[in-house]
Amino acid sequence: SEFDLIIANGTVATAANFFAADIAVKDGKFVQIGQNLTGSKRRIDASGKFVLPGGIDSHVHISQPSGEGIVMADDFESGTLSALFGGNTTIMPFCLQEKGQSMREALTAYHALADGQCYTDVSFHLIISDPTASVLGQELPALVAGGYTSLKVFMTYEGLRLNDAEILKVLDVSRETGATVMVHCENEDAILFLIAKHELAGDVAPRAHASTRPIAVEREATHRALSLAEVVDVPIVIVHVSNGEAMDEIARARARGVKVVGETCPQYLVLTAKDLDGMDWEDAKMVCSPPPRDEAAQADCWQGIETGVFDLFSSDHCPFRYDDPQDKLNPKGSVNFRHIPNGIPGVETRLPILFSEGVMKGRIDLPRFVALTSTNHAKTYGLYPQKGSIAIGADADITIWDPEAKRTIRHAELHDGSDYSPYEGMYVTGWPVTTIVAGAVMVEDGILVGKKGQGKYRPATTRPVGIRGQA
Ligand code: URP
Ligand code: ZN
Ligand code: ZN
Ligand code: ZN
Repeated sequence: SEFDLIIANGTVATAANFFAADIAVKDGKFVQIGQNLTGSKRRIDASGKFVLPGGIDSHVHISQPSGEGIVMADDFESGTLSALFGGNTTIMPFCLQEKGQSMREALTAYHALADGQCYTDVSFHLIISDPTASVLGQELPALVAGGYTSLKVFMTYEGLRLNDAEILKVLDVSRETGATVMVHCENEDAILFLIAKHELAGDVAPRAHASTRPIAVEREATHRALSLAEVVDVPIVIVHVSNGEAMDEIARARARGVKVVGETCPQYLVLTAKDLDGMDWEDAKMVCSPPPRDEAAQADCWQGIETGVFDLFSSDHCPFRYDDPQDKLNPKGSVNFRHIPNGIPGVETRLPILFSEGVMKGRIDLPRFVALTSTNHAKTYGLYPQKGSIAIGADADITIWDPEAKRTIRHAELHDGSDYSPYEGMYVTGWPVTTIVAGAVMVEDGILVGKKGQGKYRPATTRPVGIRGQA
């Protein structure tokens, strides 16, 4: 039988191996991995290129309500287009439950925003902001069974934060249903205390964002979240870990037998708090939570990437515009750090940054890159084995990399809806040149050839395979 597509002569990598092979695709799936394959409608020559499972970014914010008058800079069209050009074939945005809203209402709204708009596949996490008895007892069990198998809870942010009693209840639902809970770990009371001090002192420039959310605030909350998971006896994901002290909490919990998946992000590898401490409001561009730390914390995070404290490398793409023509009151360049929306864009630059700084500089090998950027995301959030690997029967999600490509990151050449990149001017080696989603060539040699709407919603399962035995 004739194949739809053969990708020939590349270096193919999975989370376990890399090898020279041809791969054949039919009806959107990998059907053969071999040598000298022939007989296809299309053939792509990947000589000198790396052929990797498509990137999965499991931490992306799109069209998320972010406070009065603040509009996120990406909708599903621009967000998934940017993801696609950055070598991703699947992203996992968050569906935010607003206070008083049922989770179903929130999901209906998100699906309406996403339907027909996507260039990559998408699967949703649920943010639980209002854990009422009916949400916990009725809605969530049905939703988990129906393909929404990961829940995010926040220990910070007014209107979002849950107290420990509420977090315990969500963790218990997770234990009962097999859902995976992701936790944003920062101690809100300590932050509010520091904010009040800074306000009183008139210290309200962007740098105050970093100094009111110090490492101790994250370390304490990380320890607490891990302890709560230990009490309930359930696996947990600690997202956007920024420093070695929080990493130590993860390692200590693992040594006690807690099943914990750790995530870090590009901002903690290549930005520091000094990026928020210049002379002007441009510093607001780097405001995210937790904030970037110092060079020692960067080195610790690199070590966690190399040694396995971290299983996931995600963007935490959370785009706002600095100069927003629609909204002069609440752009990134606000007049008090408390009003700067938290979050930075990065869905298109996540993979090139780790590829260049990690693989090309010899810190990690190709299989580790694949695990951190694709396979582990699929395994943690119930998309494996359909996604996350190059394997017979899996979705043919492929990113072809040119390891020789040299590029300087310029926002003008990116595809997101924000108006800056925190990584402007960064020089990288290696770039994703061709991206294939479920067998459909979407970007070919850097040119968009796919269409909006070809990316589909993909329900998740409750971890038939986990990366730390959570199944
Ligand atoms: O500052 C950040 N990270 N904003 C995105 C929301 C979150 O907490 O992940
Ligand atoms: Zn968060
Ligand atoms: Zn200060
Ligand atoms: Zn986030």
